[in-house]
Amino acid sequence: MKTSFSLLTAAAFSLSTSLYGAEKQPVNAGPYVPSPTSVVADMLTLAQVGPKDFVIDLGSGDGRIVLTAAKVFGARGFGVDINEKLVKEANEAARLQGISDRASFSIQDLFKTDISKATVLTMYLLPNTVNMLKDKLLAELHPGTRILSHDYPLSGWIPEKYVQMDLEDKVAISGVTTTLIYLYMVPARTEGTWNARLPPSLSREPVRLTLKQQITRVSGAARIGGKDVLLEEAKLRGERFSFRLPLDGKTWDFTGTVKGNAIEGSVADVGSGSKFPWSATK
Ligand SMILES: C[S@@+](CC[C@H](N)C(=O)[O-])C[C@H]1O[C@@H](n2cnc3c(N)ncnc32)[C@H](O)[C@@H]1O
Repeated sequence: MKTSFSLLTAAAFSLSTSLYGAEKQPVNAGPYVPSPTSVVADMLTLAQVGPKDFVIDLGSGDGRIVLTAAKVFGARGFGVDINEKLVKEANEAARLQGISDRASFSIQDLFKTDISKATVLTMYLLPNTVNMLKDKLLAELHPGTRILSHDYPLSGWIPEKYVQMDLEDKVAISGVTTTLIYLYMVPARTEGTWNARLPPSLSREPVRLTLKQQITRVSGAARIGGKDVLLEEAKLRGERFSFRLPLDGKTWDFTGTVKGNAIEGSVADVGSGSKFPWSATK
């Protein structure tokens, strides 16, 4: 989305002005450039979209992502766009395909759209816009929600998966064949101090777990027996949290599910394999 994308910016911008007053004009997140159909299929496949999913496309254009998610992958969802003509076209396509009950489109500023219902969120927007949305995505989406971004990454956020391919269709859009798809997963919020209950063989007293989090990266320490033991190999994937603690010459593998202010899981002695439950609350 370099040369042609920027040339199209002015056109998309003027379309938006008819809908909003001068002061209320939404930020233009990118001109209308459709994702090639093969990229749409690859994006939805990468996120393993299925009938349980609710897909939201921010800047939905002709609706192809949500329409394909509904028609081919059995999902439901909606798209928003500031281009009235494209929204009309997308709703008409949903009607003709008999999927209006599962795919709908509205004229709406994507920055002001309630995205909390999404289990999958898609975007093909300008690189700075993708990053302007980062805080909104982290604040409003539920842990475990998958985010797909066509061509542009969310800076500082490690993708779950990343696919690169060459497509001739992209030459007209960006001047090069390179196409990228980034898949992210919204992490649970683990930052803070937790009171953990561990098996008596590890600690008879509640243990204080202090965690720091930077998007999906977690680090921290457990205060056990008057000593701070650093967490090793901490991993956070959606609600799934795991780490290792070296204690008394043994290595303990912790896994757990973070649900709001509670973690429930199990801890295993790597040597013997014996497993015990553990939990924590904030
Ligand atoms: C590159 S196109 C992507 C279309 C579609 N998602 C796809 O991948 O085929 C970006 C779309 O975002 C829309 N858009 C730009 N700024 C917007 C805003 N603030 N709110 C809603 N839509 C916006 C444009 O009208 C355009 O249709």
